[in-house]
Amino acid sequence: MRLCSPLLLCLATAALSTAFLISPPHMWTKLILTHHWPSTFCSMEHPACHPNISYWTLHGLWPDKGIDCNSSWHFNSSQIEDLLLDMKKSWPDLRNPLSAAFWKYEWNKHGTCAAKAASLNSQHKYFSKALELYHKLDLDSILKKFDITPSEKYYTFSQIEGVIENFYGVTPKIQCAHSSKNADVQILGQIEICFSPDFTLLDCEKQFTMKSIPKGDGDNPMAVDKASGFSVCDHDMPVYYPPLP
Ligand SMILES: *[C@@H]1O[C@H](CO)[C@@H](O)[C@H](O)[C@H]1NC(C)=O
Ligand SMILES: *[C@@H]1O[C@H](CO)[C@@H](O)[C@H](O)[C@H]1NC(C)=O
Ligand SMILES: *[C@@H]1O[C@H](CO)[C@@H](O)[C@H](O)[C@H]1NC(C)=O
Repeated sequence: MRLCSPLLLCLATAALSTAFLISPPHMWTKLILTHHWPSTFCSMEHPACHPNISYWTLHGLWPDKGIDCNSSWHFNSSQIEDLLLDMKKSWPDLRNPLSAAFWKYEWNKHGTCAAKAASLNSQHKYFSKALELYHKLDLDSILKKFDITPSEKYYTFSQIEGVIENFYGVTPKIQCAHSSKNADVQILGQIEICFSPDFTLLDCEKQFTMKSIPKGDGDNPMAVDKASGFSVCDHDMPVYYPPLP
């Protein structure tokens, strides 16, 4: 027996060791459904990107652990043929709307790792589950419903976070682009909402993630997410939610 004090720390330790017992060490424990705002994505990423889409689109469904887990499992769009219409609308490649390259990239990098779970162990299961979760959340409508709409006026960070927390009952991870022209403003770019392996909503930040975080960046809210070019929004800085350019 070990003395545990304070009590909460003791419980957390117990919960953590239970989690390790249940899932093998290499298995992911959380899924991150990532939405991006096309205007922001295009403004920072690519001149060839024309964002005439004014709703939040899917960026990906990412397990919290693992990248490029099976290089011999090739993307094959004929396995998701029945999903393609929805994919084009909900998960468009903003740089190249006619290409499947974005889906292939997401499958190789994240889908092959998600597929370690039986519930996601085919391309059809993976992509259809991502679409299902995206439609179920319906983030775009929820933001509109609670008056968070693209606008020339600025929001506070807590206005945006508050709507999501109140509606879904979990903490999202909200990422911004930081303007080089105006250091006093950040631009809303990406919203991540997290799920447990059985697809129930989960707080994004509270869980222990096994993801290796570059040394020194772990506690820095301004650390740049190199994969996407976004970083976690600053809670004290006004947020610009850009309308279509
Ligand atoms: C987006 O722009 C392209 C090219 O300007 C146009 O062909 C297409 O119809 C537009 N799509 C929508 C949804 O407005
Ligand atoms: C990788 O994918 C191939 C092709 O689908 C499959 O046969 C193989 O079992 C997978 N390997 C692992 C380790 O999952
Ligand atoms: C892609 O999937 C289809 C349908 O399952 C299959 O017939 C085809 O052989 C696959 N193509 C490749 C290159 O694996």
